[in-house]
Amino acid sequence: MSLRTLHLTRSGRALGAAAVTAIAALAAVTAMPTGQAGAAGTALRSLAEAKGIYFGTAITQGDLNNPALTAVAGGQFGMLTPGNEMKWDTVEPSPGSFNFAPADRLVSFARTNSMKVRGHTLVWHNQLPSWVNSLAGDQVKPAMQRHITNTMAHYKGGLYAWDVVNEPFNEDGSFRADAFYRAMGTGYVAEALRTARAADPGAKLYLNDYNIEGLNAKSDAMYNLVKSLKSQGVPLDGVGFQAHFVLGQVPSSLKDNLQRFTALGVEVAITELDDRIKLPATGADLAKQASDYASVINTCLAVTGCVGITQWGVGDADSWIPGTFPGEGAATMYDNGYQPKPAYTASANALGGSTPSPSPTPTPTPTPTPTPTPTPGGASCKVTATANTWNTGLTTDITVTNTGSTTVDGWALAFTLPSGQTVTNTWNASITPAGGQVTAGNLGYNGTLAPGAATSFGYQATHTGNTQLPTRFALNGVVCATA
Ligand code: G3I
Repeated sequence: MSLRTLHLTRSGRALGAAAVTAIAALAAVTAMPTGQAGAAGTALRSLAEAKGIYFGTAITQGDLNNPALTAVAGGQFGMLTPGNEMKWDTVEPSPGSFNFAPADRLVSFARTNSMKVRGHTLVWHNQLPSWVNSLAGDQVKPAMQRHITNTMAHYKGGLYAWDVVNEPFNEDGSFRADAFYRAMGTGYVAEALRTARAADPGAKLYLNDYNIEGLNAKSDAMYNLVKSLKSQGVPLDGVGFQAHFVLGQVPSSLKDNLQRFTALGVEVAITELDDRIKLPATGADLAKQASDYASVINTCLAVTGCVGITQWGVGDADSWIPGTFPGEGAATMYDNGYQPKPAYTASANALGGSTPSPSPTPTPTPTPTPTPTPTPGGASCKVTATANTWNTGLTTDITVTNTGSTTVDGWALAFTLPSGQTVTNTWNASITPAGGQVTAGNLGYNGTLAPGAATSFGYQATHTGNTQLPTRFALNGVVCATA
């Protein structure tokens, strides 16, 4: 089934012309691999598509020079958002002088790798050239109209969506007093959307902002704006929730919030997902991050009209977080070497990935040994597990050995608890959640595993008759051999 069909199925309404048409006059295509760099099982983009949503990433022009990054980007992600190259300061650095070359390179990469494209962004207070801020009040509207019209015309028929207006609100829900607001008042939003629809009727038109993921004053302001625009018949198709989260702080009201927007007749998308951690990240942090990612994905899947998720950046090495929040980082699903982290495994699992389901009944046959997934440059590991069981409970001891040649600095061991088992107590590790797909993370004293070193941890669990051991373990995203 095509992504387009799946969108129709999930949203129950036509999404208009998606980005299916090749763009004329693009820069020469640079052939890029469509590898799956370091990922076990089916690519995220395919898993997401099978669930009726897309999974995207943001990349910048400079990223195209990094083969490890492009292999993951093209292999794992089905939607591309240019990180900077479609912003006003790049596209129209001086009045009426347009430069699409950097963005064209990214669109070309997307085409080569069968990725759709989200245009980001047309009207934003940031990365706005100083000449716009210097315009007299009555010159801002024609400048905005020209910028939208020319930029969208260049990509007409080729992009899935545009973030037409980005970050219009302050934290308290008041309008940001940027050049556009100062010149046109709140009406600049409708003006921008109408101009955008005329420029490219095939592109979804979005408003996009951060800190609007939960129910709060800022999301109330966005909600009221969308409601007002829809009631006036202003063209608007979607709302983007950037989702720059802090570890453990995915808002519990995310689902309710997304649903109140879809009830207004717009689609919703997670547009810039990351989940930042105070460095250095421990195994427990990575485990928590895995559950944060899974909860965002599960929420999008549970909301009809949530059409996709985009991570902001491919890996921790190219994330904007360390540059903006000193001492924080590790915010994406891939580590600095583009190896998948527990958040990747959790995301793949949330999308129905390849982790085998536990058998519902105990079996006397020996535990099958999964085939370790070879990961260039990644960890190698071996896991042994033993259990003591009684009528309603069990304890399991797990030993993980670093069989690779590099030191593991902070570990997270992902595995699936057999059905009916619920963790009630742990030692030498933290385990979250208590059942189903869980991740055991190191504590402060046992996070470093030199080559050949082993560490042991365990848990006590209740059961309902199934006392099987877990059968498949992944250390920092890489499947381990089992003894
Ligand atoms: O291009 C200049 C370069 O000439 C100069 O040498 C260098 C020195 O600092 O700066 C370069 O510009 C940087 C630009 O990225 C391009 O790399 C800016 O300093 C830097 O501030 C800018 O950061 C971008 C940021 O938006 C600006 O607000 C990030 O890369 C980009 O990831 C980030 O993306 C935003 C979304 O568009 C909107 N939502 C929030 C998100 C994160 O801030």
